[in-house]
Amino acid sequence: MRKRNLMFAIIAGLAFACGGGEKAAESSEAAAPATEAAAPAPEMSLEDKYKDDPIYIKGIEKVKNSDCATCHMIDRKIIGPSYADIAAKYESTEENVSMLAAKVLAGGAGVWGEVMMSPHPALSEEDAKDMVRYILLLKK
Ligand code: HEC
Repeated sequence: MRKRNLMFAIIAGLAFACGGGEKAAESSEAAAPATEAAAPAPEMSLEDKYKDDPIYIKGIEKVKNSDCATCHMIDRKIIGPSYADIAAKYESTEENVSMLAAKVLAGGAGVWGEVMMSPHPALSEEDAKDMVRYILLLKK
């Protein structure tokens, strides 16, 4: 009895797999070249990986309300280093969070290159720390 159930499950699974394959082939013929349909699922983005973390939720809100995005992207260097590169460089310790928050407030250059980060005197130290905790969370 158990063996027959197993057989049934295998046959059902095969039928399902074949059906799905045919469908994908049909639709890819009708639309774009088949390469797109056959491509493996993209790697999970850092946003998706951390979006439910309270540190993420608290930090991104404050980052969005400031000008950080002018010079920083999560995964790509633009004017400033990417958040992922910053997260790779520093452990998320209280010491590093304080040091980097002070740098966000005061601005500065010399760690990643000669380009200068503008100072952010209007931010509170607490806001800067929440932003830095969010950035240091974004490890690959
Ligand atoms: C005018 C462009 C600019 C803006 C706006 C900006 N940054 Fe930066 N940021 C930089 C540059 C350039 C560096 C690299 C500085 C260096 O090499 O020391 C940097 C570096 C950093 C670092 C790493 C510092 C270090 O010493 O390793 C952190 C953290 C950071 N930025 C956070 C922020 C946050 C948070 C905001 C928004 C409040 C922000 N930045 C806004 C350009 C900018």
